Amino acid sequence: MSSAANPVFSEARMAEIKALIERYPAPQAVLLPVLHMAQEDFGYLSMEVQQMVADTLALRLMAVREVVTFYTMFREQPCGTYLVEVCTNAGCMLNGANELVAHMCGKLGIKPGETTPDGLFTVTEVECAGACAGAPVVQINNLYHEKVDVAHIDAFIEKARSEGGAA
Ligand code: FES
Repeated sequence: MSSAANPVFSEARMAEIKALIERYPAPQAVLLPVLHMAQEDFGYLSMEVQQMVADTLALRLMAVREVVTFYTMFREQPCGTYLVEVCTNAGCMLNGANELVAHMCGKLGIKPGETTPDGLFTVTEVECAGACAGAPVVQINNLYHEKVDVAHIDAFIEKARSEGGAA
């Protein structure tokens, strides 16, 4: 039985993880895919979920935390239906990324890092998304959007609201 305070992987997920572990010489090698699975199953990587991953792979919690806190793709807090990650590194900043963040946050009434009260949008700033030629780059859930401008943002917000969170 899984609860927020005491999460456990499902039997099917554990079978998947065991099969992965058997293919590699050390459990550390499967930490990234297992963290992705945990995030998919539990929505975000709470400290309890990180401890569960550490226990599952017989790793120290610190080894898990080092990875979780390094990659922006891992979330330690719940987020909205649409996770909007704006790259504000140099290339994107010089092409208007800060203005995009300000516009979007102003329109949604939140600050960077926050989620709208309806749970629809979370807006965050991230480091270089590795697609600098397309600056400014915005990642929405798993999709990259390049050369984004304010009109794109407005159209996205309108469409997301009209769909009511059917991401
Ligand atoms: S600086 Fe934004 S993608 Fe590289």
